[in-house]
Amino acid sequence: MRVYDLIRRKRDGEAHSAEEIRFLIGEFVAGRMESYQMSAWMMAVFLRGMTDEETGWLTEAMVASGDTVDLSSIPGVKVDKHSTGGVGDTTTLVLAPLAAAAGARVAKMSGRGLGHTGGTLDKLESVPGLRVNLSAEGFLEQVRSIGVAVISQTGSLVPADGKMYALRDVTATVDSIPLIASSIMSKKLACGADAILLDVKFGHGAFMKNLEDGRRLARSMVTIGKRLGRKVRAALSDMEQPLGTHIGNALEFREAIEILQGQRADSALAQVACELAAHLLEMAGLQPDLSAARSEAGRLIRTGAAAEKMRELIGAQGGDARVVDDPGLLPTASHQEDFSAPESGYVASLQAETLGRAAMVLGAGRLRKDDPIDHAVGLVLHKRLGDQVEAGEPLLTFHANDPSLLEISRDLVTEAISIAAAPPGLRPLIEEVVS
Ligand code: URA
Ligand code: CA
Repeated sequence: MRVYDLIRRKRDGEAHSAEEIRFLIGEFVAGRMESYQMSAWMMAVFLRGMTDEETGWLTEAMVASGDTVDLSSIPGVKVDKHSTGGVGDTTTLVLAPLAAAAGARVAKMSGRGLGHTGGTLDKLESVPGLRVNLSAEGFLEQVRSIGVAVISQTGSLVPADGKMYALRDVTATVDSIPLIASSIMSKKLACGADAILLDVKFGHGAFMKNLEDGRRLARSMVTIGKRLGRKVRAALSDMEQPLGTHIGNALEFREAIEILQGQRADSALAQVACELAAHLLEMAGLQPDLSAARSEAGRLIRTGAAAEKMRELIGAQGGDARVVDDPGLLPTASHQEDFSAPESGYVASLQAETLGRAAMVLGAGRLRKDDPIDHAVGLVLHKRLGDQVEAGEPLLTFHANDPSLLEISRDLVTEAISIAAAPPGLRPLIEEVVS
């Protein structure tokens, strides 16, 4: 078998065998396939696509390129959740303790924020003392004892993905459904959970800009998971506007705590987090159906069991669990300034990506992987799409430590928001669930 012939075959629109795909990934990870050859092959995949079989084989070959996590020593159904990335998407911080309080074993490896999207690890690290770099054994032990751990990746999981993504990023081959699906699913499968819930975002602030592409990605990932013997569901959820009202790490942590304390049951973030938790509980066989699972999620918030699980999670990872009852212990920014509605009417756009960038320039996010971040800063929205506003009424509040950064953030917010005479049409928070 020669790499050259396989690139030519994909260029001409042919389908690979499992052996061919294993060979390509093996050669690439071993350093025997040049990066320009892998780039050419991925461009051929971008243009010609892959069958479901090929995408499944690619995912398996990527998983086999590195370590995998073995959760079999932990009793019960192990669950995992993944979001394709959004703005104000604090779902994991609500769902993980909630699902664990309901009896699920939540073994979650999360990522950091990049660009306009936030990352769960950065939000967690806004809690004083909290560590996310547990050892593999510490991770398993914590899931066994309290039912939940949220940490950064341990070991060398899916090295093929890191190498391939670096090339995709500079060769205009990121937005290919088979390449995204295999990238995400290889990492999820390597983490070892029995049931995986995917939250596929679509809209302005998401990878997938429209519902149709989101649906194709969701179906592809569910098909991969099924072929490889896992329970997988994918929710398609709206990212036209930020999900939560808070954007920025400590601010988002505070919002998650308020939801776990039962204070904001009607908010979009609370509704999506509870609905996703309900799907996980049903998938894990802990509740007979979705309607029972929804009631259970609501009950665990009302009784304080979900908030108590969050205290345990923070404590187990070395953080100051008092933040759950006293969010004032989280870092706060020195300057707060309102952004007021320029005219009266209805909020007609609240573009998630641009608002994410407005928080990023204040220091909440990073442009490059190793940039430092400021946990305290960000934005708090007071309105959602469709809300009526009066001229001069505050639409959002900036939280900044460096007031000189406000001007550029304000420009972005001006670009992100529009007010119209009539209310816009609104989408459901979760459009559909693919299973
Ligand atoms: N997220 C990933 O992990 N991989 C992709 O290819 C795209 C989004
Ligand atoms: Ca994430």
